[in-house]
Amino acid sequence: MWTLWGFVALLAAAVQSHITYIEVRLPLEGTPSPPGSPWPLPQVYRPSDKLLEVDPNNFDIRSEAICCDIVDQAIKRYKKLLFPVNKTAESSKTKLKALDVEVEEYEDKAEHCGYPHHKSDEKYKLEIKDDGAAILKSKTVWGALRGLETFSQLLYHDEKAGSFFINATSIEDWPRFSFRGILLDTARHFQPMKVLKQNLDAMSYSKFNVFHWHLVDDQSWPYEMEVFPNLTDAAYHPKQIYTQENLREIIEYARLRGIRVIPEIDTPGHTQAIGKIFPKLLTPCYGEGGKGTSRHPDFAGFEMLNPMQNYTYDVMKEIFNETTRTFPDEYIHLGMDEVYYKCWESSPEIAEFMAKNEMKKVAEVEQHYVRRTLDSVKNLGAKYMIWQDPIDNGVKAAPDTLVGVWKDVYLDSKLLPWQTYMSRIVKHGYQLVLSAPWYLNYISYGEDWKKYYNIDPRDFEATDEDKDLIIGGEACMWGEYVDGTTLISRLWPRAGAVAERLWSSASVVDVESAKFRLDEMRCRMVRRGIPAAPILNGYCGGYDWDL
Ligand SMILES: *[C@@H]1O[C@H](CO)[C@@H](O)[C@H](O)[C@H]1NC(C)=O
Ligand SMILES: *[C@@H]1O[C@H](CO)[C@@H](O)[C@H](O)[C@H]1NC(C)=O
Ligand SMILES: *[C@@H]1O[C@H](CO)[C@@H](O)[C@H](O)[C@H]1NC(C)=O
Ligand SMILES: *[C@@H]1O[C@H](CO)[C@@H](O)[C@H](O)[C@H]1NC(C)=O
Ligand SMILES: *[C@@H]1O[C@H](CO)[C@@H](O)[C@H](O)[C@H]1NC(C)=O
Repeated sequence: MWTLWGFVALLAAAVQSHITYIEVRLPLEGTPSPPGSPWPLPQVYRPSDKLLEVDPNNFDIRSEAICCDIVDQAIKRYKKLLFPVNKTAESSKTKLKALDVEVEEYEDKAEHCGYPHHKSDEKYKLEIKDDGAAILKSKTVWGALRGLETFSQLLYHDEKAGSFFINATSIEDWPRFSFRGILLDTARHFQPMKVLKQNLDAMSYSKFNVFHWHLVDDQSWPYEMEVFPNLTDAAYHPKQIYTQENLREIIEYARLRGIRVIPEIDTPGHTQAIGKIFPKLLTPCYGEGGKGTSRHPDFAGFEMLNPMQNYTYDVMKEIFNETTRTFPDEYIHLGMDEVYYKCWESSPEIAEFMAKNEMKKVAEVEQHYVRRTLDSVKNLGAKYMIWQDPIDNGVKAAPDTLVGVWKDVYLDSKLLPWQTYMSRIVKHGYQLVLSAPWYLNYISYGEDWKKYYNIDPRDFEATDEDKDLIIGGEACMWGEYVDGTTLISRLWPRAGAVAERLWSSASVVDVESAKFRLDEMRCRMVRRGIPAAPILNGYCGGYDWDL
């Protein structure tokens, strides 16, 4: 028999005290990254071999812009993140004494420096010169946040030498896509505040900028509202709710990290929880026992909003109104997915409504609901995002609607490949956000992040001009099988694969080399207190979880 240990080689020798990999029998494919390699890879990244030493007791991050709370607090956060241990030794290398952060545009009178927006500028330039000076320049505070994160990743602790080092490096960086999101679902399971914040931290480390919050669904309504305080009676438990205070806390935590929070109130399907509090909102389906009874597996007795009555639009308008005032982002997500027609088809009231309004197909009932709802939300001054379903059904939405593409053949063999949907939807001229190939709640053994890494959102049939309608993508963690015990380690660092795909140049595709950088990123996250799961065999250089 092949004796494994006869073929063991230490790969780590060249990169002391960095991550240690043991080659067993087969050499590891790809090129291991030197310590201090950034994730996601910057657009223009020019590291040199010149090492500078950084002394934790004699290093500062300075900025004129600290009157702006985003810059001020980011500098405080990064000062802590940079030095997880105290140095123990001195080297003869040139010292880097400070990083100067220059931001062109910020409100110098405002302590509250605003919210990130759709298509905010995130560009930055970072120069770490070999004479020991370092400067980070950006137009906006958002660019400064991205640059500080990169700087923090270039710095590393050399365990053997007992010092911190950074290579002289020149970087120019900007995102390939402006919308880089993570979807969390707090309805299938409640996700504790601590986990939501940890996730926002992890997102900022990978330069994600949208938290798509799938707040409510059939299973529960944990979202506390002033307009209808009894809605949280449809939460799992009175403690498993997000109070107004909690919501503000999450929005603020995200803002300080340059992350938008887009709330989703999914209708007209996925509404059984709200139906518990407002039973008249739901359409009675006609099952085996007549009105309001189920016919399995086609429908429950009541499951979708009733599109025929003004009452539905009036109640929902109150909910949308408060939601758009609570969440500062200009966008709200209105769901609109999975409207299964069989319930509506079973209903004589719907048939009557169709006849009265000269509608021939049930899709026109859906269109009626979509139109009225989008108009109502537009009147509130908000912009919206919806899932692709109404568009697939031939419904026309307002031209500025953002459409999320979630369908793919691996989710259901009756669906088509995501590329086919993309080709179809861009022809209608809507802006697109791709999430279909990035349902990270689907798990499997091994390095499954590679599958996510190898997806390119522009890889489908369409003209280049049509492809420019893709503004980004989203990694989704649907909540059926995750709660506070599993969410973070299931999502991270796998979501990092999506982060690099959406941020870095389209030419960054070498997955075998990327794995070493992603593994370093994983160790970095562990060092920062995020319980991210391992993706390779190895050792995090003394920073392993609960070592
Ligand atoms: C930093 O410099 C060292 C040599 O001093 C080199 O081995 C290493 O590859 C450099 N790091 C990067 C990221 O290029
Ligand atoms: C570094 O040393 C200072 C002063 O002794 C101490 O307060 C601090 O907690 C130490 N930091 C770490 C990460 O060990
Ligand atoms: C919840 O409150 C609304 C408005 O105050 C009311 O119309 C509704 O009937 C209440 N629901 C329950 C289940 O009490
Ligand atoms: C329902 O709302 C529509 C549109 O706002 C309005 O034209 C109509 O009169 C309303 N119907 C009733 C019965 O109130
Ligand atoms: C939204 O709510 C605010 C505050 O309650 C109210 O003043 C405003 O009229 C509402 N807007 C609409 C369009 O109903």
